[in-house]
Amino acid sequence: MRLRNIPGACHIVQTHPVVINHPEQQKGNWQQVFGNKNPIHIEIGMGKGQFLLNLAIVYPQINFIGIERYSSVLVRGLERFVMEEYCNLQNVRFICMDAENVREVFAPGEVERVYLNFSDPWPKARHEKRRLTSKEYLKRYEQILVPEGRVEFKTDNTALFDFSLQQIKEADWILQNFTYDLHRNEKMNQGNIKTEYEEKFSGLGIPINKLVASKR
Ligand SMILES: C[S@@+](CC[C@H](N)C(=O)[O-])C[C@H]1O[C@@H](n2cnc3c(N)ncnc32)[C@H](O)[C@@H]1O
Repeated sequence: MRLRNIPGACHIVQTHPVVINHPEQQKGNWQQVFGNKNPIHIEIGMGKGQFLLNLAIVYPQINFIGIERYSSVLVRGLERFVMEEYCNLQNVRFICMDAENVREVFAPGEVERVYLNFSDPWPKARHEKRRLTSKEYLKRYEQILVPEGRVEFKTDNTALFDFSLQQIKEADWILQNFTYDLHRNEKMNQGNIKTEYEEKFSGLGIPINKLVASKR
């Protein structure tokens, strides 16, 4: 995502009621944050929030937490949140943090699903561990997910997708389903909600890859 510094973004993010500051203080406590016992789904690298907010409309019985590293990007999600169709959503919160620290923020078994959409590819081999679908990250997700919890990953980047399939195998996760062309796969595309990047790339005729994997 091209990052333009937005003056005041940090302050807007820190003072917005739907953003959870010091999220590590809520570890093991997220049901109280939402005031119900509904399952928690997180999106890591939510960007401007289109996917997460539309998902939250369709599934009011799920609590959604969007995680984004940069306040200048998250602030765009907050701008979207105040739009008429989203502003009354009770099942959405945002966190500004690096996903590297998810285990400090969520207790074991606190999360039911992790969404990763168009994650940064980190193409250099020496940066492999930074990819959000690397074994190192799968290990982090393994600890916060419920026993049957899963990861859903979409990308236009076939090299990253192949790497991710391989990492899932090496981490001994169960590959539930995958496709190299989501929008032509009737079963996997059912109920699909497009992200900003997905709209952009599929608009250019680039096929979208998707996988669903669960921990053993
Ligand atoms: C390419 S954008 C995709 C945005 C959105 N998911 C979409 O599909 O339209 C990737 C986003 O992930 C965020 N991101 C990358 N690594 C991250 C990390 N370790 N923790 C939190 N956010 C991260 C980036 O800042 C960026 O906003």
